[in-house]
Amino acid sequence: MKTRITEMLGIEYPIIQGGMAWVAEHNLAAAVSEAGGFGLIGGANAPGEVVRAEIRKAKELTDKPFGVNVMLLSPHAEDVAKVVVEEGIKVVTTGAGNPEKYMDMWKSAGIKVIPVVASVALARRMEKYGADAVVAEGTESGGHIGEQTTMTLVPQVVDAVSIPVIAAGGIGDGRGIAAAFMLGAEAVQMGTRFVVAKESIVHANYKQRVIKAKDIDSAVTGRSHGHPVRCLRNQMTREYVKLEQAGKSFEELEYLTLGALRNAVMDGDVTNGTVMAGQIAGMVSKEQTCKEMIEEMMAQASRLMHWS
Ligand SMILES: Cc1cc2nc3c(=O)[nH]c(=O)nc-3n(C[C@H](O)[C@H](O)[C@H](O)COP(=O)(O)O)c2cc1C
Repeated sequence: MKTRITEMLGIEYPIIQGGMAWVAEHNLAAAVSEAGGFGLIGGANAPGEVVRAEIRKAKELTDKPFGVNVMLLSPHAEDVAKVVVEEGIKVVTTGAGNPEKYMDMWKSAGIKVIPVVASVALARRMEKYGADAVVAEGTESGGHIGEQTTMTLVPQVVDAVSIPVIAAGGIGDGRGIAAAFMLGAEAVQMGTRFVVAKESIVHANYKQRVIKAKDIDSAVTGRSHGHPVRCLRNQMTREYVKLEQAGKSFEELEYLTLGALRNAVMDGDVTNGTVMAGQIAGMVSKEQTCKEMIEEMMAQASRLMHWS
């Protein structure tokens, strides 16, 4: 299975594991890459040295390529942008903004830059600034979201740019992969399904919450202040949405979720923590190794697409 993305990333299967805050650390990224996909370490708000340590630990676990997701709104973005160069990382995905100011530094280091976009306009802008590919991420995704669905966004982005497009949001099995390819994508990025991977360090309570989730268990917080986040319904989301409806300010609402993702991922607080996951959580039904997940999904996609 060869596409411009598998060639660019040097991977066997067109499956990328999203750079998820707290979740996408070295064990998960290395396991996905070892299984023939492409693992990403999520830089999130971590300081440069923490990301450097994660990169080095991943290198001890795999010789295969993996990348780093640089969150451009992070107070440490500048440091992380330099660390990826110093550590010889070859692929960077970026979230929450425009990576233009780092483009020259990354390009001269031979780094492929793949921004995550939620609109055609941003995809076009990223291509103009020299992006090598884009991840078109639909609103079905876990975490920070845009408003377009994967089904509508992916083909429109594919038509608008000539760089390859990776589809993300709501993809959880081989049918999703096949559908993404039918829309013109050349790879997929998945987050929610990998949250429950055996190699994922996410707390057992969080994994169980994802595994038990039904199709309608997803909630979006933060729409009122323009920073929507998709997670699974719980006490926190109910309280958050109630306060949003009461017109509370961004600062007051932020206070409610300070450290809440960390509390859910690390301590297993799935009641008051933020259990980020996408709408596909309803279909994620078991913990498996990354290898089992990837091989199962690729076999299903291959049958549907007559790849083999
Ligand atoms: C727990 C969690 C944390 C996430 N954190 C980030 C992040 O820090 N940066 C980013 O670009 N995407 C983040 N995402 C989005 C994923 O990288 C991926 O694009 C998304 O999960 C794909 O949709 P899916 O959840 O339907 O598979 C996160 C997703 C989840 C579930």
